[in-house]
Amino acid sequence: MTTKLKSNATPRQAENFHESVRVLIPRERIKKRIKQLANEIRRDFGDQPLHLVGVLKGAVFFLADLARQIPGEVSFDFIAVSSYGHEMHSSGQVRLTRDLDSSIEGKIVIVVEDILDTGMTMHYLLSIFQQRKPKHLRVAALLDKPERRITAVQADYVGFRIPNEFVVGYGLDYAERYRNLLDVGILTIGKAEKRKRKGTKK
Ligand code: IMP
Ligand code: MG
Repeated sequence: MTTKLKSNATPRQAENFHESVRVLIPRERIKKRIKQLANEIRRDFGDQPLHLVGVLKGAVFFLADLARQIPGEVSFDFIAVSSYGHEMHSSGQVRLTRDLDSSIEGKIVIVVEDILDTGMTMHYLLSIFQQRKPKHLRVAALLDKPERRITAVQADYVGFRIPNEFVVGYGLDYAERYRNLLDVGILTIGKAEKRKRKGTKK
């Protein structure tokens, strides 16, 4: 098996699971793009305080880097939802597993998410947040897979539009692994391994 890793994952991390990761967006491009997004966000809201809401756990690195690139007053909080489990496809059901620490009423809220896929998660979050009366409610997503969308949700700030591939790294996981990769990469699972995990013979 070939493992093309320019990242900080040891080849063993992938090989142990008969998986391989191919870099799609290298760390330098991520860094540069986040700086642009941060400036764009600050421009849109003048010198007003901004409140970032990160969706755990995938958005932690994106939020950490974005928050530090936005000039002026910035606060942040986290929320957690579950929808994916250990699979590559969403169950379609979104559940709140950790709520925010503080009220968002009257605040300029920017929901920070790792990736917009079907849009189900964001649709659910926006409906909750809207009821809490923020002054403005915006969405920043590092990645966007528009082909997969089944809801009308769109992000106001998008890092990169990507093809319909399963990606890991920079916070994104597969079964909780690969979040620590510095680059975003496409994950491929060996065919034999896929069959084994599904419990099928062929
Ligand atoms: P959605 O509800 O289908 O838009 O899915 C959003 C969530 O699914 C994201 O916050 C991710 O946690 C997860 N997800 C979607 N696509 C990928 C992917 O390609 N790799 C890793 N996680 C993904
Ligand atoms: Mg996520």
